[in-house]
Amino acid sequence: MPKAIILSGGWGTRLRPLTCTIPKTLIPICNKPVIERQILLLKAAGVNEIVLAVSVMADVIKDYFKNGEKLGIKISYTDETFPAGTAGAIKLAESFLKDENFFMLNGDVILNFDFSKMLQFHDKSKAFGTIASKIVEDPSRYGVIIANQNTNKIEKFLEKEEYRPPPGGPVPMPINSGVYLLEPEVFSYIPSNKKVSIERDVFPRIAEEHEVYHYPIEGIWKDVGKPYDLLQGNISLMNDLIQNFNGVHKSLIDHSAQINPTSKIIPPCVIGEKTVIRQNCIIGPNAIIGDNVFIDNNTVLKNSVIYNETYISKHVEIEKAIISDNCVVGDNARLKGIEDKLILLSSHVKVMKDVEIINNFNNPFSVCHHEIVRESVK
Ligand code: GTP
Repeated sequence: MPKAIILSGGWGTRLRPLTCTIPKTLIPICNKPVIERQILLLKAAGVNEIVLAVSVMADVIKDYFKNGEKLGIKISYTDETFPAGTAGAIKLAESFLKDENFFMLNGDVILNFDFSKMLQFHDKSKAFGTIASKIVEDPSRYGVIIANQNTNKIEKFLEKEEYRPPPGGPVPMPINSGVYLLEPEVFSYIPSNKKVSIERDVFPRIAEEHEVYHYPIEGIWKDVGKPYDLLQGNISLMNDLIQNFNGVHKSLIDHSAQINPTSKIIPPCVIGEKTVIRQNCIIGPNAIIGDNVFIDNNTVLKNSVIYNETYISKHVEIEKAIISDNCVVGDNARLKGIEDKLILLSSHVKVMKDVEIINNFNNPFSVCHHEIVRESVK
């Protein structure tokens, strides 16, 4: 069975300030880090050895997964002193991956699919590389794949800035999903001790010289590049998980959560371990709440994500927000994002009582970790 490498060492600049305290790949998606979900999918397909290519906040990631024993899989780490780029990072694991083909994943994509089917496709086509693809309505934000429509053999890659939509507007196209199955000969295309990008520097060359195919993946796929993607990714995965539980929404509410019977839960919602929801709250739809969160009386919460250990006081209204761990939101506060412009509170933020933050601005409204918001912003 192939081994796998997961890239987990980027800065996650587009998700700042959330990524100032939590590495991007440990950000919870429906209450589990995005890479933990990937590791479990790889394990389900039979992979039993994984290397995590870590760099930024490496110690936090190592401390979380340790040697993988808890997840029942062997996990080791690369030693990358500066972010070496997506190909430079895997070059550091060459000795570990050199014996057979291997999976390579960007650690910031939410998926729920069967990796063993991709392996079967790769073996059957005897490809040098297989790139999992996703057909998206508007490919302009992604790396686009141009391929033979009958065989799926890749002819060309177009990076974001190279793609020009046809005159009538964007048409659905396969894009590079950040999930690959590669033969170890790929290492001969990656120079050592240099920042190298797999998408820009390596794939175009190997597609010219070898057979590289794309494999359309079924089910959900979402990369968590920007804050709105993070909210949407949580909602997509939540709906996918409900489908996998035969449509039973209750399965996403932990049995240890205490929900006062006067409160109304409007599905779909995720509610984590030991979370308390007191009287007369209206929670949902699309509320993803972590572990040990306390939500006091008469609070209304929808279309939002709350990480662990956060305290939300009475008569609070929250909509279109991502609230990180250990935050405190005081009585009567109102946090309201508008459309894709969310409110982001990083770890340990305190919003004082009666404060209203209404995002009428052009960007997400962010509060850095450990800050206190004392005045309303509209
Ligand atoms: P932005 O700064 O917001 O673009 O995010 P990012 O740093 O995560 O970059 P990007 O989205 O391009 O990264 C895709 C995946 O590759 C993520 O899982 C990153 O953790 C990972 N990654 C990006 N650059 C490096 C790197 O230099 N080293 C390692 N080990 N991983 C990287």
